[in-house]
Amino acid sequence: MGPPGVGKGTQAVRLARRLGVVHVATGDILRDAVQGATALGARVREYVDGGSLVPDALVGDLIEERLGSPDAAAGFVLDGFPRTAEQVAILDRVLANLGVTLDRVVLLRAPDGEIVDRLTGRRVCPTCKAVFHVRNRPPRVSGRCDECGDGLVQRKDDVEDVIRGRLAVFLEQTEPAIRLYRERGALRDVDSFGDPEAVAERLWDVLTPESRS
Ligand code: AP5
Repeated sequence: MGPPGVGKGTQAVRLARRLGVVHVATGDILRDAVQGATALGARVREYVDGGSLVPDALVGDLIEERLGSPDAAAGFVLDGFPRTAEQVAILDRVLANLGVTLDRVVLLRAPDGEIVDRLTGRRVCPTCKAVFHVRNRPPRVSGRCDECGDGLVQRKDDVEDVIRGRLAVFLEQTEPAIRLYRERGALRDVDSFGDPEAVAERLWDVLTPESRS
């Protein structure tokens, strides 16, 4: 969990690779639907491009289907879900049905100014989802993905006024979900400021405290 642009995707991809489990990002699922011009895409386009949250029941159905897939049976890293109190309840139900226990909930934090800088400079690969930054993580060839060579794009919601709106949505709708996990004692805070490698190590330490002893 964490505000827009804090580094959830950057860290979740690395963590999933390190754990050998799948990375499940609701933002990616929703953007694929929009890009593929599917019926689902038509329903969610305005929310995703405008930076407001897609209705809980709809995202809940997508997550239920995704977590029930065979490749998720060995475990998964969830990125961007849940992000409302209602979605916490949906996830509780989905996990109970699957007989799966949530190991940890991690909250990444960074200052708002840093977030706006990260998002306005972000460039993404629409094909393989690799994430770059014009200064912090530039691609080897300008405008081209290092992984698959496709052209990089700027997300429609990565412009400053939409970013400010997304930060407000986070405060209003996601902070209550974070409070629920904090009250349950499940939440671990990780500072997402600084080099992504250093953040990844902090995150690993929080998830595997036994590896330090
Ligand atoms: P989503 O795609 O999840 O967007 P988000 O939460 O706003 O998060 P971002 O993807 O923008 O950022 P991130 O934290 O993953 O950062 P990243 O690693 O890319 O959701 C988009 C939309 O879909 C929502 O607005 C909503 O409409 C809908 N949606 C999704 N989930 C939903 C749900 N559960 N319910 C309802 N609606 C939902 O990093 C950002 C940049 O910073 C990159 O350029 C990266 O290279 C750089 N960077 C990363 N780490 C560092 C570092 N340590 N130092 C310097 N730069 C860094």
